[in-house]
Amino acid sequence: MKGLFISMEGPDGSGKSTQIDLLKKYFNDKGIECIITREPGGTNISEKVRGIILDKNNSEMDYMTELLLYASARAQLVAEVIIPALNEGKCVISDRFVDSSAVYQGIARGLGIETVYEVNKYATRGRFPDKTFLLDLPAEAGIARKKKQAELDRLESEKLEFHQRVAEGYREMAARDPERIVKLDATKTVEEIHEAIISVIEELMNFADALR
Ligand code: TYD
Repeated sequence: MKGLFISMEGPDGSGKSTQIDLLKKYFNDKGIECIITREPGGTNISEKVRGIILDKNNSEMDYMTELLLYASARAQLVAEVIIPALNEGKCVISDRFVDSSAVYQGIARGLGIETVYEVNKYATRGRFPDKTFLLDLPAEAGIARKKKQAELDRLESEKLEFHQRVAEGYREMAARDPERIVKLDATKTVEEIHEAIISVIEELMNFADALR
């Protein structure tokens, strides 16, 4: 297996970007080349799709359209950035990936996880993250953090019940795939969460070394 593919997941305002920056620094200090991508976005085309998805004026957007737009932004990111980087042996940290679609569109919007996987089989080319960190946070806390930072986008402006379904949906996903998805308590300090992430990464790297 080439490269290392990590995704960071969690409700809006769960502190993903802070942890991603710290993890990138950890890899760089070890001399491991690492790129960060964000979803939806990360390529010229995907950023344009992001604009359409998150635009608050697009209030009439059908949920299936939403699912397919996220998947199309992902397909371009996977083809243009993620697979080439992994093939070069780099580490890729993605701020959200297919679990976001499973939770937001599959569970919270009610389209069903199976539908999401069916579509994303093509978008991801079957490449799932090697490890996924879930920053678990009560919905109220995440949205309160976001409100302090900036104006809310189309998804963030959803009702509290939607965000509660998201938070609960993430827990459900982690329970379905406990091997890949590591659930962390996002109310802990930044340092505590970083330490927990590093210990999982070190275990993963020791395992990869042992296989060589
Ligand atoms: P973003 O501003 O990147 O949020 P965050 O900083 O919390 O990651 O906006 C992305 C929004 O899109 C966020 O509300 C989650 C949502 N989303 C989905 O609904 N489905 C998806 O597949 C992805 C990748 C994101």
